[in-house]
Amino acid sequence: MNTITAAVTAVGGYVPDFVLSNKVLETIVDTNDEWITSRTGIKERRILKDVDKGTSYLAIKAAEDLLAKGGVNPLDIDLIIMATATPDMPVASTGVYVATAIGATNAFAFDLEAACSSFLYGMSVASAYVQSGKYKKVLLIGADKMSSIVDYTDRSTCIIFGDGAGAVLFEPNYEGLGLQDEYLRSDGVGRDFLKIDAGGSLHPTSFKTVEENRHNIVQDGKTVFKYAVTNMADASELIMKRNDLTNADVDWLVPHQANKRIIDATASRMNLEESKVLMNIEKYGNTTSATLPLVIYDFEHLFKKGDTIIFAAFGGGFTWGAIYLKWAYDKKINLN
Ligand code: UT7
Repeated sequence: MNTITAAVTAVGGYVPDFVLSNKVLETIVDTNDEWITSRTGIKERRILKDVDKGTSYLAIKAAEDLLAKGGVNPLDIDLIIMATATPDMPVASTGVYVATAIGATNAFAFDLEAACSSFLYGMSVASAYVQSGKYKKVLLIGADKMSSIVDYTDRSTCIIFGDGAGAVLFEPNYEGLGLQDEYLRSDGVGRDFLKIDAGGSLHPTSFKTVEENRHNIVQDGKTVFKYAVTNMADASELIMKRNDLTNADVDWLVPHQANKRIIDATASRMNLEESKVLMNIEKYGNTTSATLPLVIYDFEHLFKKGDTIIFAAFGGGFTWGAIYLKWAYDKKINLN
């Protein structure tokens, strides 16, 4: 009997048109292009300006792109996992709304929230469902409208985050391709260092919490940075060692795009040459759940069947980990 592995078989992505550049941020907060570029690697980010549209809008666009490019019938999808830290509403799953909107009426759907590691954890969950033999088409979407929780007077967060969405389809593979191994961890010590303080069950929304401006994302950047550098590098090194992978065996690193310096530290620990480290942080900033799929989306044309890819992420909570995946296809030529 052939073992089932879970492989990525189609990819989609979407970012809104509006570009918020470092130059424009210079006019909003006390910062400058040189500081942002050298400390983070970010040049610009995309913002969903329409106040009537939430994260679901971004997710639907990315999913529709995947369906069109991959020639996937939405009625064949079994499950949709919506990785997001910015659901449309606190209650009423955003994934369910997205599933109905794209016509995936035979699917069930739910949201998965693990801050910037949401998509990485989602890869694990999606793969487990496929490997179990229970479901054949699992759509994993990573989407965040970070601009909805950013305080544009706070220079420690507004320079970093952007909006975007990416989607991948996981399907059974019988050649041993797809997800090979995962190392996922979390540590509640992180809760105080990166959070939205109010609006949840601990501190429900009140006039006071609004007056005190406690509904936006805040972080102790320095502390988060230290944990991120150590843990993303540790996880990536560990997954390589555990699978007897040398730097020559790894074709690509797909890292969470939070800060170029965190990515460089991870790549350096893996002893990876620069050309194997995939980055689009300069264009989009940190799109939270969307960073990994947007990297896949932007660089899909480079991937070849059998390529060894290491995914790594770190996020609030804290949450982090690394995944070893073998790519399953050469880029299909779109004849449309
Ligand atoms: O996705 C997972 C979650 N997030 C992260 O992984 C983010 C992790 N943290 C970071 O990326 C970095 O900590 C930041 C980009 C947020 C900040 O960079 P940093 O190198 O840690 O800066 P810092 O907070 O240590 O500040 C250094 C200096 C300070 O000035 P002094 O005290 O040295 O005079 C800050 O006041 O830079 C100043 N500064 C700024 N200057 C211009 C802080 N933010 C800014 C800014 N523009 N936006």
